Amino acid sequence: LSTTDVDLAAIQPGQAITVVWQGKPVFVRHRTEEDIALATKDDSAELRDKMADATRVQKPEWLIVVGVCTHLGCVPLGQKAGDPKGDFGGWFCPCHGSHYDTSGRIRKGPAPLNLPVPKYSFTSDTTIRIG
Ligand code: FES
Repeated sequence: LSTTDVDLAAIQPGQAITVVWQGKPVFVRHRTEEDIALATKDDSAELRDKMADATRVQKPEWLIVVGVCTHLGCVPLGQKAGDPKGDFGGWFCPCHGSHYDTSGRIRKGPAPLNLPVPKYSFTSDTTIRIG
């Protein structure tokens, strides 16, 4: 399948799930107000791969990123409910220690680029289609 449909209704604020799209993991995270505030505040931080949070999301509460570390392709560890990983509240890649923030941007460690945002669209208020 070239597209993957995701039902967002059951994903609570602070939770993230992993779905598979074209054989790759995609993280779908329901961001909290704190996650969003942190991401937008850090728009002005020193960013290796500079991107404003607003350019990475269609709706601030939903972050959708390909879950493949931009260093050498491991799958970063994310949060279960209330348990974000890494120093920046997002994901941590255990292979060589890359830290991603609540916008999926690279913040520390060897990875050169942010976790990419796949093409997706909202097919209803609570469903998206990736691809
Ligand atoms: Fe993620 Fe190297 S593959 S830090």
